[in-house]
Amino acid sequence: MTVKTKEEIKQMERVCKLAAQTLYHTAKFVRPGITTDELDKITHDFTLSNGAVPSPLGYHGYPKSVCTSVNHVICHGVPGPEVLKEGDIINIDVTCFLDGFHGDTSATFFVGEVSERAKRVTEVARRAMEKGIEAITPFGTTGDIGFAIGKYVTKSGFYAVEEIGGHGIGRQFHEDPFVPSFGKKGRGDRLLPGGTITVEPMVNETAATLVEHAIPGSSVKWYTTSDKTLSAQFEHTVLITEAGPEILTGY
Ligand code: MF3
Ligand code: CO
Ligand code: CO
Repeated sequence: MTVKTKEEIKQMERVCKLAAQTLYHTAKFVRPGITTDELDKITHDFTLSNGAVPSPLGYHGYPKSVCTSVNHVICHGVPGPEVLKEGDIINIDVTCFLDGFHGDTSATFFVGEVSERAKRVTEVARRAMEKGIEAITPFGTTGDIGFAIGKYVTKSGFYAVEEIGGHGIGRQFHEDPFVPSFGKKGRGDRLLPGGTITVEPMVNETAATLVEHAIPGSSVKWYTTSDKTLSAQFEHTVLITEAGPEILTGY
């Protein structure tokens, strides 16, 4: 992982704050009847009006400015003409690029009133992210994070996605290390003070496998649960300090 200077950390704080503001600005528009393309435009315009660039746009050919993952979409859902309806859950994943640095954050939102099971999978995903962040210590490891997430999700009766996870972040959108949602304490890569990573567990209702889908013109894939059951996710960008984790994308 790359260790940031004080000045670089200030820049990370700035872009991460903007990413959080962008996420909650876009989320205000979530309601039955809106399309994910409209949410994309809202994210795009807000980001530009704040002097930043949406990191997803053109990233390995990704065609949109945000990821919108509805119901059984695990992640990287591509905005389009899909109309949100009452009872849906939607993860909105915002990444901004400002002054040479990326800030990445996502949350799952309810469209109107949702089922008890939708509430439950969403709550477990949020708590899983928090558990993962709480497991961060200076000179700890990525395995500490994965262990905490995996243990909590399993205990809760849900399934953490193992194939995809968090990542280092900074001058690049995705940097080393991989931040898993499973693992063993003390294994994996070392967490260094001054490093910045994302913690972004994806939580599924069942043990269903993940199905990979192509995006035309892009090497990025989007993913769904094979049995169409729900998947929820939350993501923060976190700074590792001598004193422990510091959430940079808080709102
Ligand atoms: N924001 C996603 C993440 O959390 C990555 C999206 S890549 C894109 O890592 F190309 F789909 F935007
Ligand atoms: Co991320
Ligand atoms: Co993200």
